[in-house]
Amino acid sequence: MGSSQNLAATHLAADSTLRADFAHALARRRDSALNGRNIRIALAAYLRSLDSFDSRFDRAVRGDTLALDARERCGFTVFMGKARCGTCHFAPLFSGVMPPEFTSSEPEIIGAATLPVLRNARLDPDSGRAGVDHLAEHLFAFKVPTLRNVAVTAPYMHNGAYATLEDVMDFYEHGGGAGLGAPLSNPTLPTSRLHLSAKERRAVIAFLRALADTSSASPRARDRLQPKGIATR
Ligand code: HEC
Repeated sequence: MGSSQNLAATHLAADSTLRADFAHALARRRDSALNGRNIRIALAAYLRSLDSFDSRFDRAVRGDTLALDARERCGFTVFMGKARCGTCHFAPLFSGVMPPEFTSSEPEIIGAATLPVLRNARLDPDSGRAGVDHLAEHLFAFKVPTLRNVAVTAPYMHNGAYATLEDVMDFYEHGGGAGLGAPLSNPTLPTSRLHLSAKERRAVIAFLRALADTSSASPRARDRLQPKGIATR
């Protein structure tokens, strides 16, 4: 994020409340100093706590035939088939890490725009992975994020320019940033229209909502995140 772990530590250490929270969180560790290494350890521990494998989709896959309704099932079919979402967001994690090892992933170039417009899109200027690995073929390439819990993690894309899943579906319907007119020489997303009907788009969104399982979130976060109509357990 254009910073460094030690700079992050300096910033956090300037706040006495954060300093106390940090000491509390790492109290059981021999080295609990607020430094770059321990920030990495704390962040990694947090990320590992975010697993969510009891969504209604998971229950359906485990054999509960009533866990998904007809529209959500249709949405899964469109997601994996006609809309090609599953060619980047691999089931069952729906992120870019590839089964069966779940250790490697390829960044993809889809061309998120500065605003969720339907024509004359302007490419978000963030150079993406190329800014880190300096490979020309990774210019504007981004990690494929998981879609688990995506219903409760708006706004979307690395720049947060897309407020709703409807905005995201419009983006993909039109072939991503390049399909919407942004100058992007090397998209890995096909730039042709998907030709999804309004019903199919709604079905994909219904399916994405069925990927929600916020049971590992703290009760406070869950209350804040829980939009109406999404069952957790
Ligand atoms: C070519 C690969 C590719 C395909 C195909 C693809 N995606 Fe994505 N998707 C990505 C990448 C890369 C990102 C992150 C882009 C960014 O942050 O700028 C992303 C981001 C998203 C996000 C935002 C997630 C977040 O937390 O910000 C949603 C929602 C999403 N995709 C849904 C879909 C759906 C639905 C489809 C099918 C219509 C689809 N994707 C097809 C690569 C792909």
